[in-house]
Amino acid sequence: MHLRRALLLSLAAALVLGPAARTFASQPAPSNAPADATPPALYLGTAWYPEQWPESRWDTDLTLMQAAHIRFVRVGEFAWSMLEPSEGHYDLDWLDRAIRAAQRHHIAVVIGTPSAAPPAWLTTKYPETLRIKQDGQRDQHGNRQQFDWSNPKYRELARAMALQLAQRFGHDPNVIGWQIDNEYANESYGPATQAQFQDWLHARYTTLDNLNARWTTAYWSQTYTDWSQIPIETSYGNPGLLLNWKRFVSDTWRSYQKNQIDVIRAKSDPRQFITTNMMGFFDGYDEYTVSQDLDLASWDDYVGTGQLNPVSNGAAHDLTRGLLRKNFWVMETQPGFVNWSPDNNSLDKGAVRAMAWHDVGHGADAVSYWQWRSALNGQEEYHGTLVGADGTPVPLYPEVAQLGSEFAMAGPSLAGTAVHSDVAILHSYDAVWAINWQRHNKAFDPLATMVTYYGALRALAHSVDIVNPSVPLSQYKLVVAPALNLLTDQQAQNLIDYVRNGGHLVLTQRSAMKNTDNGLFTERQPGPLADLLGGRVAQYYALDSSIPISGAWGSSSTNVWAELLSTSSPDTKVLMRYGKSPLGWLDDQPAAITRQVGKGRITYIGADLASDSASPALAAAAKWMLTDAGVHPAFGALPPGVDLYIRSDAHHEVWILINFGDAKAAPQTVTLPTAFTNVLTGSPTHSVTLNRFDVVILQRPTH
Ligand code: GAL
Repeated sequence: MHLRRALLLSLAAALVLGPAARTFASQPAPSNAPADATPPALYLGTAWYPEQWPESRWDTDLTLMQAAHIRFVRVGEFAWSMLEPSEGHYDLDWLDRAIRAAQRHHIAVVIGTPSAAPPAWLTTKYPETLRIKQDGQRDQHGNRQQFDWSNPKYRELARAMALQLAQRFGHDPNVIGWQIDNEYANESYGPATQAQFQDWLHARYTTLDNLNARWTTAYWSQTYTDWSQIPIETSYGNPGLLLNWKRFVSDTWRSYQKNQIDVIRAKSDPRQFITTNMMGFFDGYDEYTVSQDLDLASWDDYVGTGQLNPVSNGAAHDLTRGLLRKNFWVMETQPGFVNWSPDNNSLDKGAVRAMAWHDVGHGADAVSYWQWRSALNGQEEYHGTLVGADGTPVPLYPEVAQLGSEFAMAGPSLAGTAVHSDVAILHSYDAVWAINWQRHNKAFDPLATMVTYYGALRALAHSVDIVNPSVPLSQYKLVVAPALNLLTDQQAQNLIDYVRNGGHLVLTQRSAMKNTDNGLFTERQPGPLADLLGGRVAQYYALDSSIPISGAWGSSSTNVWAELLSTSSPDTKVLMRYGKSPLGWLDDQPAAITRQVGKGRITYIGADLASDSASPALAAAAKWMLTDAGVHPAFGALPPGVDLYIRSDAHHEVWILINFGDAKAAPQTVTLPTAFTNVLTGSPTHSVTLNRFDVVILQRPTH
């Protein structure tokens, strides 16, 4: 059957799902269907909470899921009170029956360990497992995430629960993976945690003299004479203390997670992956640290209020892809709308499907909707779902069913493909935290700065990686470090080596100012890279009005922040200069400088190109960087609103084109550089026309 026709037929089936569902439900499903031998390359999924519904309903739900081509459910992640109704008495039979029921519908299972929602008996019997909030009060039962992630008793109980699950399902053919806990978020601030933090500092700094020196505690009489004197501080403390608390938080989440990973790994098949669902730009902990023990990175992708911003959302995808530097999963995403933002508007019709393809374009191999059906009571009654409280499909369901059908069709083309990029943006939690604790100009947002550079580069290069500055960089022709405020010794050396080995490094404002202790480098910016640059930041200025800039990237203006640069080497060239302004200090001074180092290059941008994403200087700078670094994009300029995502393997490329343009804009036509095959229709294609939210998936051989 022609692929397009198959798509339309399955769409038509989805559109009449009320009756269709009943037909499906009344057919007895095979009781012992094997788990799928060939897992799909693209998984459509949903969060399913069988414990909230009578078992007699399960088959109807799974039938509706199957009709929408849903290929996995995530179960169990808040079900502790059902899995261990009283201490040491486990009931996993119902979960086994749910897994078997899913299997009969060719729906695989990811088990979430339930530690984000401890049962009432547990927190009553062991109140010390409840977290202490920042106001010093102990949290209580009735919500979730009320546990203390540093508490040994809690870890013991969570590990015992995970062990039970792993012993029972670690070799289950229908269980494909594990999610540890759910969205790590809340720390605890009690005396026991503080003592752990002090021990952690002791192990890291060895002596108090060392700690006192590196935190410059002579300032404001902060000197510590005993480890037990060191407080927890989260907002206006000593910068060394603040940063180390965050690192402790990250390490503690890592060990909290590893406590469960270890028992699951010991009892499960290696084919079962272990992940946790992270949160994109959320910076409560260092996602690079916490992801180190995982097989797969995944994240929860919510728009909240408004409509999808493909640039910032794409950056969050790429950040997640950068955690383990490979494809990732979208473990949760909104079926239209959420319940927790100020305005829980729905995504426009067509946007949910387009967003899912956007996920895939950025390297997601799975997209999973939270959630299938709302609990009839509970904190999230208003959240978007795929079926309503009455158990029948909501208007969005056919759109998701269409997507599921497309995933099935396009899966073979995308199997084994990944995103490959010549350009990397550097991102570190240390740097983001360091600036956010001392913004100096409240308008200077380090993440917004990163996303603006990312957007300008991506618009031209079509693909950008976001990676931590400590990883090997030699695969990249261009590495851009927006506001990389803080560098560890290893990171500084990594960047120096990158340039010396022929890479092009661009540092922007506020980069390389601070050391591994969040203290100032004794060299002016860019600290350990100043010699390589043959120049430095003579002074920084928070701006209250804009200042003109001009030079190689045209004429523009700088706002928010400006750094006066100077050159110390005859081969360091000035690319941009500040114009005259009432401030005076910057008049005619260098605003961007660059130096060739062998085959490599280091550039420093002291002017703010990022507070205005439409700045002509930003686009010109991005073009200059890419050209100088020898990055040859796969395609030239795209029409407004149209985005291109490329995934490839050794043999072929898949191009995904999506029109995220304005609702009022005319359809956009893209003429392709060579002939492609349209993956969903099988037709040869030379040009495509896209209405808003249209998605076209194309492929061509690479040799
Ligand atoms: C996520 C969470 C889910 C659900 C969802 C609602 O943050 O992991 O359990 O609460 O938000 O949008």
